[in-house]
Amino acid sequence: MLPRKIETYALYVALLVAWVAMLGSLYFSEVRHYVPCLWCWYQRILMYPLALILPVGLLRRDEELPYYMLPFSVLGMMASSYHYLLQKTTWFSGTTACSVGVPCNLDYINWLGFITIPFLALIAFVLIFFATVVALTSRDSLWKDEEQIPWQPVAAIIALMALLFTPSFLSATPATEPVRPLSSSVALPGQELYEESCGVCHGLRGEGIEGLAPALAGSARTEETPNKTWIDLVRAGIPADHPDNQSGIAMPPSGGRPDLTEADLAAILDYLRALSEPAE
Ligand code: HEC
Repeated sequence: MLPRKIETYALYVALLVAWVAMLGSLYFSEVRHYVPCLWCWYQRILMYPLALILPVGLLRRDEELPYYMLPFSVLGMMASSYHYLLQKTTWFSGTTACSVGVPCNLDYINWLGFITIPFLALIAFVLIFFATVVALTSRDSLWKDEEQIPWQPVAAIIALMALLFTPSFLSATPATEPVRPLSSSVALPGQELYEESCGVCHGLRGEGIEGLAPALAGSARTEETPNKTWIDLVRAGIPADHPDNQSGIAMPPSGGRPDLTEADLAAILDYLRALSEPAE
C-alpha cells in the first residue's frame, strides 16, 4: 500500500481538531456551566459544521472538501481573533455587541495569563486553516492514487473523542434554571441584573459554581457586610494576584459590567439576601 499522503493526514488532523473543539466547548458549557457569550456562539456556529463536513467529505473522497472548509476556518480565525482582542485589550471596549447577556470580555479560563477559550478556538481554526491550505494545493491529486479513504481512521477519531468526553458529560450536574417567574411582577428588580451579570460565574441562584466563583447567597459576606462596603468591593473586583483573593481566579471589577450603577448593585445585594431567606 502506498503511504498515505500528507494531505490526507492534514485532513485527519483537521477532523481531530474540530472534534476536540466541538466537544471541548460543549464540555465548558454543559459540564462546567460556563454560559457561552455572543462571540462564543459565532465561533461555535463556524466550528460545529466542520466537525460534520470533514468526515462526510473524507469518506466521500470529495476533492472539493477543502473549499467547504475554507470559509469556516477563515471566518473562524477572524471571529476568535476579534474575541480574544475584546478580552485582552480595550481597543473595542465601546462595542455593544456583547453588552447583553454574558459579557464577552469575561475570561472563564485564563491559563498562564493568556490562554483563554477564544485563544484555544483560534489555535483550532488556524490548524484547520493550514490543513485546508495543504489540501487545497494538492486538490487535483488529493485522492488519486488511493483506492479509497479507509473509514477506520475517521471512525477511530470520532470514537476516541466520544469516549474521552462521554464520562464527563454523563456525570455533569444539571444546570440551575433561572428562578424568574413567568410573570415578573413579583421578581425583585435585582434578579434580572444578577442573572445577566453575575449568575454566569456565581450560579443563577447565587449557589456558586465549582472551580469558578464562590456562592454569594447565604455567604457571610453577603449577609454581614454593610451595603456600601459590599458595593465598593464588587466595584473594585478582586484581581487574581490580590492578597485577599481566595481562589486565584479574578473577580472582574463590577463583574465585567462597568455600566452597573450603585443602585443596580444595591438591588443585586437585596436580591442575594432575599435568596437565602427561608421560603414562606
Ligand atoms: C468572571 C466571573 C465572575 C463574574 C461575572 C462575577 N464574579 Fe464575583 N467573583 C468571581 C470570583 C472568581 C470570585 C472569588 C475571588 C476570590 O477568590 O477571592 C468572586 C468573588 C465575589 C465576591 C466576594 C465573595 C465572598 O462572599 O467572599 C462578591 C461579593 C462578588 N464576587 C460579587 C459579584 C457580583 C455582585 C457580580 C455581578 C455584578 C459578580 N460578582 C460577577 C467571579 C465573578
